[in-house]
Order: sequence, then structure tokens, then C-alpha cells
Amino acid sequence: MKVAIIGTGYVGLPTGIGLSELGNQVVCIDKIEEKIASLQKGIATIYEDGMEDLFQRNLASGRLSFTTDMKAGVSGADVVMIAVGTPPHPVTKEADLKYIRAAAEELAQYLDGYTVVATKSTVPVGTGDDVEAIIRRVNPEADCDVVSLPEFLREGFAVHDFFNPDRIVIGANTEKAKNVLLELYRPFAGKTEFLLVSRKSSETIKYASNAFLAMKIHYINEMADFCEKAGADIREVAKGMGLDSRIGGKFLNPGPGYGGSCFPKDTNAMAQMGKKYGAHLSLIETTIAQNDARKVQMAQRVTEMTGGKPDVRIAVLGLAFKGGTDDCRDSPAMQILQEILKEHSNVCVYDPKAMDNAKTMLGTAVDYAANAEQACEKADIAVILTEWEEFKQLDLAKLRLIMNKPLILDLRNMLDASAVRENGFVYSCIGKR
Ligand code: UGA
Repeated sequence: MKVAIIGTGYVGLPTGIGLSELGNQVVCIDKIEEKIASLQKGIATIYEDGMEDLFQRNLASGRLSFTTDMKAGVSGADVVMIAVGTPPHPVTKEADLKYIRAAAEELAQYLDGYTVVATKSTVPVGTGDDVEAIIRRVNPEADCDVVSLPEFLREGFAVHDFFNPDRIVIGANTEKAKNVLLELYRPFAGKTEFLLVSRKSSETIKYASNAFLAMKIHYINEMADFCEKAGADIREVAKGMGLDSRIGGKFLNPGPGYGGSCFPKDTNAMAQMGKKYGAHLSLIETTIAQNDARKVQMAQRVTEMTGGKPDVRIAVLGLAFKGGTDDCRDSPAMQILQEILKEHSNVCVYDPKAMDNAKTMLGTAVDYAANAEQACEKADIAVILTEWEEFKQLDLAKLRLIMNKPLILDLRNMLDASAVRENGFVYSCIGKR
């Protein structure tokens, strides 16, 4: 099939690469010329585990191409996917649909032959109706159906998730559109659940899923705080809970609060939608407020451990919003770091993948290290903020020698508490006293 994907970010690019690997002719469209020029040259603009080989292979085969030219990309496509950003509105926190609307306005002019226009971006309930209205207004002759096709890819694991989906949700209001998408996703038939629902249900499924996962994280974080006070161990508690198949063991890792470009944005947008429709979403509202407050509480732990001295040297390990990605947008690590910087100015940071992104956000406010050990040199405390596997391999004996004071605050529960203490450290983690 011929597929056009508008937007080459964390959703559009892995989706485009995945669909080309399945044998489709895919053209990815973006307005940013440097991005497209880089992708055309075979230089990936985001980091995703396992993406590089697939990207190079499909680019070389000619199944995958990139353009800034909407007309060339959309003309003759069987499916056009809209995968542009839906950032939160700075004031209302609702999802801002200006990029979606602009994409619909533009693509509508170039539709020829029957086309399925699918929104991949996370969009508020009813957006499909808006997109359809725009297309009909701009091009009353267009032969197309607008469907909701939510994506459930996790950043950092997008390639894995693309090829191993838990479900494929198709929110189409016509049989014809359903059949086109069933054909596109046929390689997954028999391997995953296909859910054919109305467009509005599909749009809601995406928000309801992300909000539920955010709530699950908030729940385990609160339970972790309880364990610290009551003398229980959150790791044991989470394991015991997760073995109940009704609860499930995933997303029960306590930490510094959830972040990233999806959960904070989507929980806020869902809460706003609740208000709009007069359906108060109290659990989601509480989750948002408590998750925000958690970042401040986490920074206070640094101050408590260092005795409130402003001149201490702090090593921050991890800046990305989670392990496996270079993305620092709405990263809990960055938010906690900003809190730390209100009290302390002597901070050295390291992240295995996110240094470039972090530098554009932090400038000269911190020192930058080439590796974790270098960040810890002469530090009074090491604070782990992102769950990178390499932090599990830290040479604790060496760290003890190069650090000024033996303090480790592990907000991702990465380290083996007894090994850390055996090496002479005072160790604090989440959910265990
Ligand atoms: C999330 C969803 O997991 C995807 O299914 C969805 O497609 C995506 O949003 C999206 O809407 O595009 P993502 O934002 O990449 O994916 O990140 P997650 O892996 O879900 O992690 C989000 C945050 O929760 C991170 O800060 C992470 O550290 C935190 N988290 C996650 C925890 O604190 N504990 C956990 O057990 C799991």
C-alpha cells in the first residue's frame, strides 16, 4: 500500500519505518527542512532502540522516503496518517489542535482517489469530526474517510512496540475504511487483538489508557511513601500486587513521578475534557496534582540528605524522562534538577543519551560530565534520576574513593541496597526506609 505520514517525530518516524518494513511504500512528510534533509541522508533525527538498521534498510530499498512536499507525499496515497504534535495549550492545558487542523487543511487539497485519513496523534474526542469537516470544506470532491488510529508506542521501545502491539484499535465509521486498515495491518492478524470501534470510542481509548497508566504510577508512588513510613518494602509489595492478574505487574515501578511528552499532557487534556462534558474526573485530577507535587518532594530529599548546605557538589545521573530515550521534554529528572538549582549551584550532570537535548535546556547552569564516574568526582551526593541500565554497573568501590561524601539518593531503585551500603555509602531509595 502507499502510505503518507505527516509528522516525523517520535510517533511518525517509527511508524513510517515499521510500515515500510512490512512492505508498504511509505513517504514521511515534515515541514522542517533540516529534519527532512537529515533523514534523506540517512541520519536519524531521534534515538530509538533497534531503529537504525530498519531505517537504513528501508531507506536503501526505496520503500521509505522523506519529503517536505505535501502534494508529492499525499497524492495517490491509500492511507494518509496525521502524526503531528498536539502540545498542551499554555493556558487551558487542553490539547492544542492547530497542527492537526493545519495538516488537514493542506492535505485535503491533494487527495486523489479513495483515501483513508487516519489521526495517529493523540487527539481529543470529536477531533475526527473536525478533521472531516475541514477536509469536506477545503475539498468537497474528496473521496475519503477519516478514522482514529491511536498509537500505543512507548518512546525508546517504539520499534519493539510497533512489531509487538497489545492491540490495534481502529475507530472507523465506515466498512470501507475499516477494510483498508485491516489490510494494512494484516501482518498482525492472528498475532494481536483487532478492536473495531466507533471513532469517538477510539479517541477515548487512547486518553483513558494513558490516564489509567499515569494513575497506576501515582498509586504505586503513594504506596511507596506509605511503605517508607510503615516499614514495608515497596518492591515486595509491588511484586505481590502484580502477581494478581487483575492488577498486572507492569507500571508498578515507583519513582520520582511520571513525565515525558505524553502522560502529563494527556492527563491534563483528559481532565479538561471531563470539565467540558460535565463529567468530573476526580482520580485524574488528583493524580496530576500529586504527581506535580512529587517533583518538589524529591528535590527536598536531596536537601535533607546534604543537611541543607547550599555549597555542596551534586552529581545528577540521568536527565531523560525515562531510560532508553534521549527525550527530556517534561522529564521528572529535569524538573527535579530545576528544583535543586533553586538551592544549589554546584551541580554536575550526566545522561547516556540525552546530553545534547539537556544542554539546549540547561545551558551553563550546570557542569557536564562525559560519564557517570566523572560526574561523581568530588561530589557530596550522587542522585539517580533516570533508570539507565548502565547505572546498575556503577563501580561502587571506585565511586566511594572519588566522591567527597558517601551519599547516594536513588530515585529509580536501580542499585542493590546491601552492595551500596557494604561499600560504605549512606543510601536512600524509594519505598523502603
Ligand atoms: C506512554 C505510553 O506508555 C504509551 O503506551 C503511549 O503510546 C505513549 O505514552 C503515547 O501516548 O505516545 P511514554 O510516554 O513513551 O509512553 O513513556 P512510558 O514508558 O509510559 O513512561 C512514562 C513515564 O512514566 C516515565 O516518566 C516513566 O519513568 C514513568 N514510569 C513508568 C514510572 O515511573 N513507573 C513505571 O512503572 C512506569
